[in-house]
Amino acid sequence: MRRLRLGCVGTGFIAGKHLAALSSFEDVDVVAVADNVEERAAAAASAHDARCYTDGVDLVESEDLDAVWFCVPPFAHGRLEEAAVRHELPFFVEKPLAHDLITAERIAGLVKSAGLLTAVGYHWRYLDLVKKVQAFVQDRPPLLLTGHWLDSTPPVPWWVRRGQSGGQLVEQTTHVLDLARLLVGEVTDLRSVHVQATGVDGGQDGEELVPLASAISLRFDSGAVGSVSSARVLPARHRVGLQLVGEGYALDLTERAIVDHELTVTTATGTVSERCAQDPIAAEDRAFLDAVAGRGDDVRSSYAEALRTHSLACAAERPSENEEPNGA
Ligand SMILES: NC(=O)c1ccc[n+]([C@@H]2O[C@H](COP(=O)([O-])OP(=O)(O)OC[C@H]3O[C@@H](n4cnc5c(N)ncnc54)[C@H](O)[C@@H]3O)[C@@H](O)[C@H]2O)c1
Repeated sequence: MRRLRLGCVGTGFIAGKHLAALSSFEDVDVVAVADNVEERAAAAASAHDARCYTDGVDLVESEDLDAVWFCVPPFAHGRLEEAAVRHELPFFVEKPLAHDLITAERIAGLVKSAGLLTAVGYHWRYLDLVKKVQAFVQDRPPLLLTGHWLDSTPPVPWWVRRGQSGGQLVEQTTHVLDLARLLVGEVTDLRSVHVQATGVDGGQDGEELVPLASAISLRFDSGAVGSVSSARVLPARHRVGLQLVGEGYALDLTERAIVDHELTVTTATGTVSERCAQDPIAAEDRAFLDAVAGRGDDVRSSYAEALRTHSLACAAERPSENEEPNGA
């Protein structure tokens, strides 16, 4: 089996999960890592016996790679993906695609023109529990979706700054919105997405902060309706997941942690729960590697697919930007 040469840009929390998964695969060599904080890049390079860069574009331009992972904060997207496109280098990118829509749309255009293989870290799509829900709802369409991302404020400095993270809906609740699209279908018209937010004060330096809590309402092409609540004021993760209700059933899908999910199905015959410790990060990495190696075709979120979710998240985050010019 040909060994795959990989690089990873960003060596923070989620990069640690990807690097652990990637280095556990027998056909993978992590040959280079980059982080703009030199000590972090050096620590990851030493742990993986890889070359070290402080600029991800340098890494892309200097190394002979089969694929690269971009695990950087939302504001850091753009020039990394442009470099990968220039070098025809397949890339895996963590969600969200960017802190804004314009950057993601620009990169999507470049990726499409280049016909580049991509994957995006909407890891719920790789859960067997989600496959079960997809099979369940196939001939029993949901009528109602209720989603939640009720959590603490992540401790990384960029997260609370809306101009850097994009906001909670773009940065976290996007997972729930992605599942909503997967399981219920497309939202009818992004201009019909309604949001109410509270705690929208600016920071001490006047920088716009992420709202403390928000609620959005959605209508789907199928006729289903939905609401999704988000908050960042809890002492720890409180509830992350969604509930689907249809004729004679309720399905509850919950993420307690990245490797701890639960599905509860209630029908006329009773309630059954299933908890699973599958590692969806390893699963999405394996699927992308197999696609890169030409051995598989199971990438469940390409850049183009993720752009639809990102557009929905951006529409919910900034509804005033959904209005057409002249209020049409
Ligand atoms: N799929 C998931 O469930 C999941 C979970 C956590 C984070 N994420 C996503 O992963 C991304 C990173 O999150 P994190 O928690 O790892 O953040 P983090 O702050 O822990 O790590 C980000 C790293 O990127 C580095 N960095 C910043 N700008 C850079 C640049 N231009 N070039 C190179 N390195 C740069 C930082 O120094 C830092 O080490 C976010 O978009 C986040 O939404 C996804």
